[in-house]
Amino acid sequence: MDIKIPLKLSTAYKNEVFEGLSSFPKQLSSKYFYDKAGDQLFKDIMSMPEYYLTDCEFQILSTHTETIGELFRDRENGLDLIELGAGDGKKTKVLLKYMAENNFNFVYKPIDISENAVKLLSNNLAKEMPALSVDAEVGEYFEVLERLKGFNKRKKVIMVLGSNIGNLLHPKAIEFLTKLNDAMLPEDILFVGFDQKKNPKTILDAYNDEAGITAAFNKNILTRINRELDGNFEVEKFKHWEMYNPETGTAKSFLVATEAMEVTVKAINLTVNFDQWETIHTEISQKYDDKIVCLLAEEAGLEIETSFTDEKGYYKNFAFKKS
Ligand code: AVJ
Repeated sequence: MDIKIPLKLSTAYKNEVFEGLSSFPKQLSSKYFYDKAGDQLFKDIMSMPEYYLTDCEFQILSTHTETIGELFRDRENGLDLIELGAGDGKKTKVLLKYMAENNFNFVYKPIDISENAVKLLSNNLAKEMPALSVDAEVGEYFEVLERLKGFNKRKKVIMVLGSNIGNLLHPKAIEFLTKLNDAMLPEDILFVGFDQKKNPKTILDAYNDEAGITAAFNKNILTRINRELDGNFEVEKFKHWEMYNPETGTAKSFLVATEAMEVTVKAINLTVNFDQWETIHTEISQKYDDKIVCLLAEEAGLEIETSFTDEKGYYKNFAFKKS
């Protein structure tokens, strides 16, 4: 198995941690949640009853497997199926199996920022679907976008599932979609999952579970900095805080310092002070409605081909083409 792993990631990580902890208000990027422990915590999140997103998207992909698969198909030349933020591939496997069983000629290219996730997925696919061609890569969205242009010999389908796009505020999401559009040919499809606006309580509960798994996931970024960058965060002195604004559809995660403290992160030569109740903003999980998705698509020069939703209307997958 051959997985491409860029070296650049670790410099970007150091720079962003330095910048984020030095700025006011403090922030850290949710991209860096996903080390080995973070991947496991995210898997635990995906199987919590409160975290409806995964079940809803799984239901959509399972119910509409054939329609979606046939939308992707190119009988003449086959296709490249590229997935950004593939994670454990649980939902994608539904499609992969359909495609494999129905004589699709395709290569599956999962890309994820977590080296651990990419390795686990590659091993798992080699075992479960040995005949599948897999060309995995470790990388960050904006960094891999440029390379996507190289996939222009035949139809490509780019998938961004799990409402991963929700980690980007609208201007960034538009930039991201525009760059995806730039890499697309007229026959290509962009297939994206969007978590929908709904009862604010349902959303809040999904990011603030009773068992504290989301809290542990959020705090893992500090544990990771302690381990990898020789930091001395007293993780238990931070409190996970979630808020959801039903007007904007933006859910935000914070880590709140419960007392004043000084923290040093030796590997990046950084000493930072926290006042009591000072925050680190760690994640955005944007929620959408049709109006916003239409607007994002329009701004990015994309056209909605079709969409699919689950029984409860909690979640929606959109297929886009170049307009
Ligand atoms: C993987 C980014 C889609 O925002 O819902 C889950 C990550 N954060 N619980 C999300 C997450 C807290 C998740 N995404």
